Amino acid sequence: LFIPVVLAGGSGERFWPLSRKSKPKQFLTLDDTGRSLLQATVDRLSIVSGSADSVMVVTGNEYRSQVLDQLPEMPVENLIVEPLARDTAPAVLYAALRIARDQPDAVMGVFPADHRITDVDTYLKVIERAILIARQTEQLVTIGITPTFPATGYGYIQQGAALRGGAQDTTGENIFAAYHVSRFAEKPTQETAQQFLDEGGYSWNSGMFIWTVKAILQAFEKHQPEMYQQLSQAVEKRTVKQVFPELEKISIDYAILEKSGHVAVIPAEFGWDDLGDWNALERLLKAEGENVSVGRHVGLDTGGAILYTTNGDDLIVTIGLEDVVIVRTSEVTLVVRKDRTQDIKKVVRQLKAHP
Ligand code: GDD
Ligand code: MG
Repeated sequence: LFIPVVLAGGSGERFWPLSRKSKPKQFLTLDDTGRSLLQATVDRLSIVSGSADSVMVVTGNEYRSQVLDQLPEMPVENLIVEPLARDTAPAVLYAALRIARDQPDAVMGVFPADHRITDVDTYLKVIERAILIARQTEQLVTIGITPTFPATGYGYIQQGAALRGGAQDTTGENIFAAYHVSRFAEKPTQETAQQFLDEGGYSWNSGMFIWTVKAILQAFEKHQPEMYQQLSQAVEKRTVKQVFPELEKISIDYAILEKSGHVAVIPAEFGWDDLGDWNALERLLKAEGENVSVGRHVGLDTGGAILYTTNGDDLIVTIGLEDVVIVRTSEVTLVVRKDRTQDIKKVVRQLKAHP
């Protein structure tokens, strides 16, 4: 049995002001498919698990109704609500403990709600392979992506020896192999990221994980014993609401993957894009090098600009500008140099501190 779990509780700060605290990135429709990133994620995973019925979603209390509105076919009991956001480690542990009550022998998949995937056929084959490997080897299976630049917003996975058992069975159509992970480094500095690229043998962590419920619970018990005790008792005694705020705020990458010696990676390519910041819009709308505009734009001597208006009647006019992002919503106008879009989150945090 395979149970995909979608993490949909992030606040999407780097896509501000389109992504707001009240409606973060995963709930937005960024392309012309009419499906939000969350809906598209669940659509894809429904193919793997056979139906939308088995896909679970974990989100924060404030996003509960948005998730239910966007996923009307999903049974309500498939929604796991965190009383408040404590980052992805508590979210994953909570989901694993909930699944363990009814399906202790299940394989569980963890999927971010805000990524784009263009080659769905390959994506499905990789997941199929990952499920097999997780079941046969009890490893924590990650899916790796070939890095193309020294990104500092990703985890890096160093590939070790080929994994025995399941992995080498590349008969049939599925050619994806798995390897031991010799090192997992979450969000390195630019220098370290560059070293990894120079050295070779590293993948980006796609943020998708496949493991047996047993293996991930064992890993939590070993590497996050306090969180494990707190939350497993709370689930049993039904005191999650009281206990959740006390849990350490930490991501699954720092909490488990950097620490465990039982991590495997399947390197793959399937047109993955984590839509990390505004520059992703160029890739999304396939217009690298040209001006990208959503909404009305008139540009004179303007190059490499990304322009976005939420109100169809609004007009953005630019003269003599290069490599800028301009976003206009009903409440905010943002103008930022393309190479500074990662800093948007700093401003968002400042705005929160001094509203
Ligand atoms: N339920 C829940 N609760 N979901 C959360 C929470 C939370 O507290 N915090 C974040 N999420 C969701 C986000 O909505 C997103 O879908 C996913 O979990 C990953 O969180 P991000 O905050 O987007 O992580 P990241 O992008 O900084 O880093 C992760 O993803 C990278 C690839 O995109 C790491 O796994 C990196 O190693 C990885 O390279
Ligand atoms: Mg992300």
